[in-house]
Amino acid sequence: MSTAVFAERLHEAMNDRGLKQVDLVRAAEQRGVRMGKSHISQYVAGKTMPREDILDFLAGELNVDAGWLRGGGASGVPAPAEHGDVAGGAESSSPAAAADAVPPRRRTFGKSHKLDNVLYDVRGPVVDEAARMEADGTHILKLNIGNPAPFGFRTPDEVVYDMAHQLTETEGYSPSKGLFSARKAIMQYAQLKNLPNVTIDDIYTGNGVSELINLCMSALLDDGDEVLIPSPDYPLWTACVNLAGGTAVHYVCDEGSEWYPDIADMRAKITDRTVAIVLINPNNPTGALYPKEVLQQIVDLAREHHLMIFSDEIYDRLVMDGLTHTSIASLAPDLFCVTFSGLSKSHMIAGYRVGWMVLSGNKRIAKDYIEGINMLANMRICSNVPAQSIVQTALGGHQSVNDYIVPGGRLYEQREYIYNAINAIPGLSAVKPKAAFYIFPKIDVKRFNIHDDEQFALDLLHEKRILITRGGGFNWAEPDHFRIVYLPRIEVLRDATAKIADFFDYYWQS
Ligand SMILES: Cc1ncc(COP(=O)(O)O)c(C=O)c1O
Repeated sequence: MSTAVFAERLHEAMNDRGLKQVDLVRAAEQRGVRMGKSHISQYVAGKTMPREDILDFLAGELNVDAGWLRGGGASGVPAPAEHGDVAGGAESSSPAAAADAVPPRRRTFGKSHKLDNVLYDVRGPVVDEAARMEADGTHILKLNIGNPAPFGFRTPDEVVYDMAHQLTETEGYSPSKGLFSARKAIMQYAQLKNLPNVTIDDIYTGNGVSELINLCMSALLDDGDEVLIPSPDYPLWTACVNLAGGTAVHYVCDEGSEWYPDIADMRAKITDRTVAIVLINPNNPTGALYPKEVLQQIVDLAREHHLMIFSDEIYDRLVMDGLTHTSIASLAPDLFCVTFSGLSKSHMIAGYRVGWMVLSGNKRIAKDYIEGINMLANMRICSNVPAQSIVQTALGGHQSVNDYIVPGGRLYEQREYIYNAINAIPGLSAVKPKAAFYIFPKIDVKRFNIHDDEQFALDLLHEKRILITRGGGFNWAEPDHFRIVYLPRIEVLRDATAKIADFFDYYWQS
């Protein structure tokens, strides 16, 4: 079956029935079918094919034949009368006639059904549209991706020098967990963060935290195992859980309480299939930093229900306002925790791909799981060795990021600017971020009749040439938020927020 043909037919059937994406999402909700906005938009964009049960649901709602919707084929069931032409005359109710009429079918290659529930909207359809516009010569202001280098945040010179200096010594594979020098430096960093019971063997380097998130979920999950993930989340977590066959169950973070996790919601979502809680602290996309008391409640919950904790702390060195970051693992010596961090954000070297994870606490209860992690770590041989060679340099000595996050520093001043500018726009409001470089404004959807956040993101892109990421891209259920990356300089942010203000002055979603 061809994704392109399916998308074309889906589009056509929706037009015929006068149905929008949002209508199908609503119908899915009513029937208890797991098909969200991101899914349908990927189907319509020709990016992915639905699972069979979802395809059947769509065919039912659109009143078309499922075989036709799928793309038909030599022996396919004929399309309903109104679609006969689109099927290209190749369809026939008579197998004999079909055999006569249809030329030999070319083999096409589809992607795995394991990807059916995997979405990654940070680089999704709106980004594709922005790329198309750029290819046509339109300048787009990109406030959508947390990549510091293009915004003039430079890698510390010492890091670049040391990597260049060691290139000839890093031509071969390293041990699969990583170079001793890198892991030693990470271990010392873990000691400073009070992570309990960590030896050098508990440290794994990765090609970014991204690789290790994927590895950890693949090693852990059996079909149907549930993992509690924040909403909003950094969507790689949800994607990797689903890809590994698990089920991502989202707990709400509460905007009314500084975007802290809602512990009651977390508790309510624990079932006998729940194996782990994921925490993103400091948080992407909200910029929240969780205080010790909140972390303690999560530890208590994990302890009560015998859950593991995965804590993504990649922004732990980008904390403002004199606050300090606490690693949740430091509060949980009796639980098994995996703590993730790296150099992409704190050292502005996202392109070098340096991440790591640290196993801590009660490793005895996770002996078998750790064997699984080791197996997958061995299978990928090792992470990028030149990048590992500068971990020691990066983690030691002067931390240039510290100059960015204090008054007068770029990140601090940009945060102040964006926070005030967004809150000055009628219909928008935002909690002040305490860390990282994201803000997650709330839209008064009634005021603008916004019911589809992807449409809103597309309209903003087309009309103001500004690219943001819609809240749904972070597994946020309502169409009432979006994320801004505030890495650009204040002059650029000023221009962007003026355009956003103008947009919301007239916008009314049809
Ligand atoms: C919360 C979070 N975790 C992980 C990552 C991925 O980081 P890396 O560059 O180390 O793969 C990101 C990147 O934006 C992130 O925001």
